[in-house]
Amino acid sequence: MGTSRMFRVFVVLGSAFMILLIIIYWDDVGVSHLYLHTPVSPGPKVPHVPVPPQPQTSRTPSFLSDIDAFVNQFLEPGTGEPTDPVPPDTSNQSDKAEERYVPRREWKIHLSPVAAELRERQEQRRKLLQEMCINDSVVFPGKNRSFDDIPNKELDHLIVDDRHGIIYCYVPKVACSNWKRIMIVLSESMLRDGVPQRDPLAIPRDLVHNSSMHFTFNKFWKRYGKFAKHLMKVKLKKYTKFLFVRDPFVRLISAYRNKFEIRNDDFYRRFGQVLLRRYANQPTPPASVDEAFGLGIHPSFSHFIQYLLDPQTEKDTPFNEHWRQVYRLCHPCQIQYDFVGHLETAEEDAEHLLRQLRVDNVVEFPTSHRNLTASSWEADWFSTVPVEARRELYKLYEPDFRLFGYNKPDWILNE
Ligand SMILES: *[C@@H]1O[C@H](CO)[C@@H](O)[C@H](O)[C@H]1NC(C)=O
Ligand SMILES: *[C@@H]1O[C@H](CO)[C@@H](O)[C@H](O)[C@H]1NC(C)=O
Ligand SMILES: *[C@@H]1O[C@H](CO)[C@@H](O)[C@H](O)[C@H]1NC(C)=O
Ligand SMILES: *[C@@H]1O[C@H](CO)[C@@H](O)[C@H](O)[C@H]1NC(C)=O
Ligand SMILES: *[C@@H]1O[C@H](CO)[C@@H](O)[C@H](O)[C@H]1NC(C)=O
Repeated sequence: MGTSRMFRVFVVLGSAFMILLIIIYWDDVGVSHLYLHTPVSPGPKVPHVPVPPQPQTSRTPSFLSDIDAFVNQFLEPGTGEPTDPVPPDTSNQSDKAEERYVPRREWKIHLSPVAAELRERQEQRRKLLQEMCINDSVVFPGKNRSFDDIPNKELDHLIVDDRHGIIYCYVPKVACSNWKRIMIVLSESMLRDGVPQRDPLAIPRDLVHNSSMHFTFNKFWKRYGKFAKHLMKVKLKKYTKFLFVRDPFVRLISAYRNKFEIRNDDFYRRFGQVLLRRYANQPTPPASVDEAFGLGIHPSFSHFIQYLLDPQTEKDTPFNEHWRQVYRLCHPCQIQYDFVGHLETAEEDAEHLLRQLRVDNVVEFPTSHRNLTASSWEADWFSTVPVEARRELYKLYEPDFRLFGYNKPDWILNE
């Protein structure tokens, strides 16, 4: 009698103790692990940003809301893309915002919905991508593999912002500096006098491209080891994913102009000299870019195309990111992008995207006044490239043309 009673007391006490442990444990997990804040912290470490005052005071104890957040994060049916914001003027809406931990600031209130044609445009681009991914006439290496089979180092172009639940796949030569700036502002990874930098254009150029400023997916591997892929998949499911693309040939012209037509010592040494040696009969090219420019020597656009078509090139090393195909950088058949921007419609798309991400009260897309490479110059640029080479080049970039809905440039390919 006595022992059985004692036993019952033990069981009750033991259970209570376990529950207590679980609560404490979740409390910890909820705060420090689920919301992996961007690990980068350039400059001096300073106490964290003051959190804006919480609107509600009568909140449930923190462990309960953490469990809530945990459950929401993983179990809530994935809606994929967030619906367009309805003006958040009811208190129910803002409760929801807080519960989902999305932005810590109020959403901007829009009186007019996103234009129907913009929504339609996104719908079509996403649909095209899906169709092309299952269409067997679009063939490229790695198309059929699963996400798990993508090597970690090939995930280095996916920038993650846990604060807002955003993943951006950056494609060099497609306004990527400006989008990287926006990701830095959103993730608050650059502090100035202890306060996050809010102006995208105030971020110096060299910092924008410094990988220590960005939490890219391949860094997960170093942090989470064998759990990395699993965590990535959860984030890919829950977060809003976007990328920006442009006409593939125009992108190549832009890459050439930016890396070979203007002085760039790094690219001259890594690629320019190779181009001159291999395709311009220059066995001993000038040692530095200044010397080369002084002598009026630089690789031509045609040399550049020859380099891209040369099978030796990829045997040595994979294409540099500035001319690597988008399907290799961003894995559009493994990752279901919620938003596909085109540089050709950059301003409209940027506005639409920032609104869809519900951060248009935090950042604005910087307008660019640079001399953009225009599609109308394409024919001029390719006039020095033999037609046969143009066709081969099209084959090399055909998946990008088709996945993202760029017309086959017949006026360049048939002469
Ligand atoms: C990137 O930033 C880190 C820390 O801010 C610095 O140590 C490193 O030298 C930078 N790298 C480049 C290539 O500028
Ligand atoms: C919140 O929504 C519930 C139903 O979903 C409704 O009964 C309630 O009145 C709403 N509260 C406010 C403050 O709008
Ligand atoms: C695949 O693409 C080709 C060329 O665009 C098209 O003719 C064909 O109908 C597509 N097939 C499917 C199954 O959608
Ligand atoms: C991908 O799978 C399709 C059939 O499902 C096949 O026809 C195609 O050859 C495969 N492509 C590659 C690159 O393995
Ligand atoms: C832009 O650059 C092209 C060639 O690099 C040049 O022909 C054109 O005049 C420039 N336009 C402006 C507005 O600077």
